Amino acid sequence: MEQDRVRPLALQRKICNAEDAAALIHNGMTIGSGGFTPSGTPKAVPRALAARIEEAHAVGQPFSVRLFTGASTSPDLDGALARVNGVSFRMPYNGDATMRGRINAGDTAYVDLHLSKVASWVRAGFFGKIDVAIIEAAAILEDGGIVPTLAVGNNKTWLDMAEKVIIEVNAWHNPAIHGLHDIWNGDLHPEERLAIPIRRPDDRIGETVFRVDPEKIAAIVLTNEPDLNVSFRDTDESARQIAGHLMEFFRHETKYGCLPPALPPLQSGVGNVANAVMAAFVDSPFENLFAYTEVIQDGMLAMIHSGKMRAVSGSAFSVSSSASEILNRDMASLREKLILRPQEISNNPEVIRRLGCVTMNTMIEADIYGNVNSTRLMGSRVQNGIGGSGDFARSAHVSIFMAPSTAKAGAISSIVPMTAHVDHINQDVQIMVTEQGLADLRGLSARQRARLIIDHCAHPDYRPMLKDYLTRATNSPGGGETPHLLTESLAWHQRFLDTGTMHS
Ligand code: COA
Repeated sequence: MEQDRVRPLALQRKICNAEDAAALIHNGMTIGSGGFTPSGTPKAVPRALAARIEEAHAVGQPFSVRLFTGASTSPDLDGALARVNGVSFRMPYNGDATMRGRINAGDTAYVDLHLSKVASWVRAGFFGKIDVAIIEAAAILEDGGIVPTLAVGNNKTWLDMAEKVIIEVNAWHNPAIHGLHDIWNGDLHPEERLAIPIRRPDDRIGETVFRVDPEKIAAIVLTNEPDLNVSFRDTDESARQIAGHLMEFFRHETKYGCLPPALPPLQSGVGNVANAVMAAFVDSPFENLFAYTEVIQDGMLAMIHSGKMRAVSGSAFSVSSSASEILNRDMASLREKLILRPQEISNNPEVIRRLGCVTMNTMIEADIYGNVNSTRLMGSRVQNGIGGSGDFARSAHVSIFMAPSTAKAGAISSIVPMTAHVDHINQDVQIMVTEQGLADLRGLSARQRARLIIDHCAHPDYRPMLKDYLTRATNSPGGGETPHLLTESLAWHQRFLDTGTMHS
């Protein structure tokens, strides 16, 4: 096994167990870790590190690390370290419930960043030095090339910047994975940067492997386990309706020549609704599609299998166990149609704007004027983070945001007078969709947008309240181009916190 997966003789001598590798990490160190979704997350070393931290805490010794990743990871990393309160600082995105609890409690300082910016900012030194990189690989080739697994994320930058490198070589992955990746030098200092030569989503511009100075490799740990995959909810009625409204919109746009028949490259956000929308394309009339996206979920793989999607470029997979098994089994043939890139390239505004992507992201709530909150529940509690939604929405040809019109069994309206936090300003939101309908906000004034969003997207239970708010705000002495009643604009959120419902 060692010979197959770790071919350089000199590196075979660095093979050790996870506990010995974790012993290289000390209190206060900064770790740059693989992981962008559960895919590609190192597993054995973080678990061993969590055990070390727990032991240290048991005898009253301080032990925590600063943790940088690609985006979300898995319970093996975020979950294990958060459980033992072992992370003092975390960036740039988290989807783990235990870590979320630590962040919202103030135990872990959290910096929520646009994912495309992390690599170049770390290289510039904005976040201090990286002590240790922990990366998962499928193999280390004779020439030292490191074959990534199902996520690329910021791994190239961590390998370049870290003082020491720990590699988990995971034999679960089909060796045919070599060739899936396209690693390009995108995180250079601004004065050294080149134009990114991607003109089509399936252009390959870099190497298939990571490179690192072998002297920096301090430990190699052999593993053989699948990622802890995500599970998607069965498509519910509201997700199906949202997908239906979007398909109708795309049919209309292509019929009248506003969008090309094969549609521009698609980007799809994370979560159940986004997955359901992608799945809906399988039964749509659209063909010859491309995706230039960040995360590749089951829905996109279904489009590849159906033949509707020609190629998908992303930075990581986020797939169910069954999709992951199929992906691994059929890697040799699927590899031609799938490309994983560093996240500063998958999410790069220069490329997204050049390709003219249609972006589809999920929101927590929107206000009547089209401003979107993707990250903070009731304005205060972070859910995940902005992730790549800002990278894509700002640079999109058409930016779409979607969500069910209510949450918590109808106690919360996703359309509110004013969002309690803003991630995407109305200028970055052209289309809004809920199960109630679709609002095409292009070319509309604030007051026009408000009427359309209320009529097309708000739940009927909340529509009269929103209309009443808009009428009174418009007629108030303050009035204005974007009418608001400042003493009432966040009252819906306060009412939910006080009474458990936004309904008056
Ligand atoms: N107010 C308060 N809570 C709300 C809410 C609202 N308006 N809307 C949803 N929620 C709650 C849900 O009830 C759920 O709570 P629970 O965990 O207690 O059940 C939680 O928020 C998550 O909602 P859910 O419907 O399960 O989310 P999802 O899986 O569809 O994801 C986002 C939605 C917005 C959280 C997710 O898409 C995200 O993190 N987006 C930001 C990053 C991003 O867009 N990345 C893509 C770029 S490529």
